[in-house]
Amino acid sequence: MTPPPLLVTCGLPYTNGPCHLGHLRTYVPADAYVRYMRRMGEEVVFVCGSDNHGTPIVVSAEETGITPRAMSERYHTHFDETFKRMNVMFDHFGMTDNPANHPRTQAIVSELEKNGYIYKQIVHQAYCTKCKRFLPDRYVEGTCPHCGKPARGDECDQGCGKHLEPGEIKDPLCKVCGTKAEFRDQEHYFFKLSEFKEFLLPYLDTLRGTSNAKNYAIGWIKDELHDWCITRTLEWGVKFPGRDDLVVYVWVDAPIGYIAFTEEWAKKTGNDWKRFWCGENRVTHFIGGDIIYHHCIFWPALLKGAGYGIPHAIVASGMVKVDDHKFSKSRGYVVWTNDDYLDKGLPADYLRYYLLAYTSHTKELNFSWKVFAERINNEVVNIFGNFVYRTLYFAQKEWEGIPGGAVDPAITAEIEKCLATVNGYMQEYEFKGAVDSIMALAAFGNSYIQTNAPWKLIKTDRAAAAQVIKNCVQITKALALLLEPVMPAAAQECWKQLGYNDKVASHPISDATLPVPEGVIKAPSPLFVKMEEDQVKELDALLQKRVAEANKKTEKIPMVTFEEFQKLDIRTGKVLSAEPVPKSNKLLKLQVDIGSETRQIVAGMQQFYKPEELVGKDVVVVTNLAPAKIFGVESNGMVLAAGDAASLLVPFRPVEPGSKIR
Ligand code: 2FM
Ligand code: ZN
Repeated sequence: MTPPPLLVTCGLPYTNGPCHLGHLRTYVPADAYVRYMRRMGEEVVFVCGSDNHGTPIVVSAEETGITPRAMSERYHTHFDETFKRMNVMFDHFGMTDNPANHPRTQAIVSELEKNGYIYKQIVHQAYCTKCKRFLPDRYVEGTCPHCGKPARGDECDQGCGKHLEPGEIKDPLCKVCGTKAEFRDQEHYFFKLSEFKEFLLPYLDTLRGTSNAKNYAIGWIKDELHDWCITRTLEWGVKFPGRDDLVVYVWVDAPIGYIAFTEEWAKKTGNDWKRFWCGENRVTHFIGGDIIYHHCIFWPALLKGAGYGIPHAIVASGMVKVDDHKFSKSRGYVVWTNDDYLDKGLPADYLRYYLLAYTSHTKELNFSWKVFAERINNEVVNIFGNFVYRTLYFAQKEWEGIPGGAVDPAITAEIEKCLATVNGYMQEYEFKGAVDSIMALAAFGNSYIQTNAPWKLIKTDRAAAAQVIKNCVQITKALALLLEPVMPAAAQECWKQLGYNDKVASHPISDATLPVPEGVIKAPSPLFVKMEEDQVKELDALLQKRVAEANKKTEKIPMVTFEEFQKLDIRTGKVLSAEPVPKSNKLLKLQVDIGSETRQIVAGMQQFYKPEELVGKDVVVVTNLAPAKIFGVESNGMVLAAGDAASLLVPFRPVEPGSKIR
């Protein structure tokens, strides 16, 4: 019996920020897996889309002053284009706010209701009396009820990482206006996740994918499962069936997007989406390690409860670090796909290689430009590129192309062994193992050509030299075919240099042992360019600069005690006269009445005020600042002003000069 077709998906990126290395760690391996499986003869459909709903997007849109739809479209296009630049080629890239997803979500929710898995309950929901609205998820900040750390409404993001249900957060504050929120009763809908424990235990036992996904999920399920509140008081989202005032929680309509995108793709191509989602299936979700709970527990329960097929495999990637630091956009430890990488002219292939080969898919990936460049230069350029170039250069030089004759059976056996090893790894989502095996074949080729030295052999035995090159050409062909899922552009170039004029991706991997026909080829050029030291330094400097700037922004301002504050003598004053300081275009010399005396003060205000504008003005002065000479003029105090344009601080009501500020 033929197995059901493979449907591969990737976690959907939120449309409130650009694509970065953290995203790519999931998408690149998924794309490589899809390419490989297709080349093994599998029917594979690869869908993804952008995640448009939820409060983070509403909050960002409000901050930017555009609608959540406009914000989503902007980043949707960005992700779509960036994935293509990275050669991550989805068959369909949809939007969760698009028409297909609304009815599909509502149909699933209605089905769950009909099957008795949804109930209503009153929730004590945070409410802002100033903004006059309920505060779902990211609209509220407060304290985690589990660990006491600062948390957001739906997640303890700075502490224990637990998911928080509406009403659970302590000391809630409105994120928009900072007002202390109060709890008010509101009716919400809950999904009976707790009823799925019996189903989930055996399901997880047979779930395919990476062990981290399965093991975490099994661990969690042994604890108690809590029902999930699946509605929110928001305008933006998919309406809960029959309730105009509520939308479904983003984690309901986002994964249902996987189905809606399959429907959109099926409509476009004349296929039947039900083949992928109803009954026996091979749905394979590639996700980040932070959303295992949603995909291994919540999502299969939702599908099961609504009578759909349940996922076949969950492949979860490990964390990404940058320069040994936790990935953090606010701290500057981030690598932006466009700004920092592609727009610098670096090939997508290199980053794809690094992401796949750095470490096992489930382990932590620690990015640094130094290691990146080392791995590219030592492995990709020196081993792979070098072998292919030496082979094709010599073949072209001596035989104008591919010599005749048959490949040695020992070489064919070596290639077959490599194909089997790579396949074993790919079936187990061990992408590093697969890439290492491909590189091992290239290394084998390199030492084979080195040991047999056809450039020497040709002087005494031309036929024997031709045999060595024939063997090397066959290894090159195998390498091109195997490399395609990892570095599609370089593999295509290698294929072309071997004399083929079709697409390497249109050939099955098993073509690796089919002989390369005798014939003329063009003089080859190196497949890869080395990363130069200066370039690496420049890239690294950019990262360090971003970290330094982020540090400045988050630098903690030291606390002062009340006693320390009291040491400052701050009083009101009246400007008696003002004139420019000679030879300076910034400074003004002021005479200021501070009650007990008149002080001369030099202030950097010439660009912002005409001297006559200041005369007679009440100002605020620090009177006990140590005297200083500025441009040769003595200054005895400081006039306080705010902002870059030196807006003067003035007393709200008239006061006598010399009144103490307290
Ligand atoms: O965590 C995230 O970035 C989510 N946008 C992933 C959603 S994946 C899915 F279930 F839709
Ligand atoms: Zn916590």
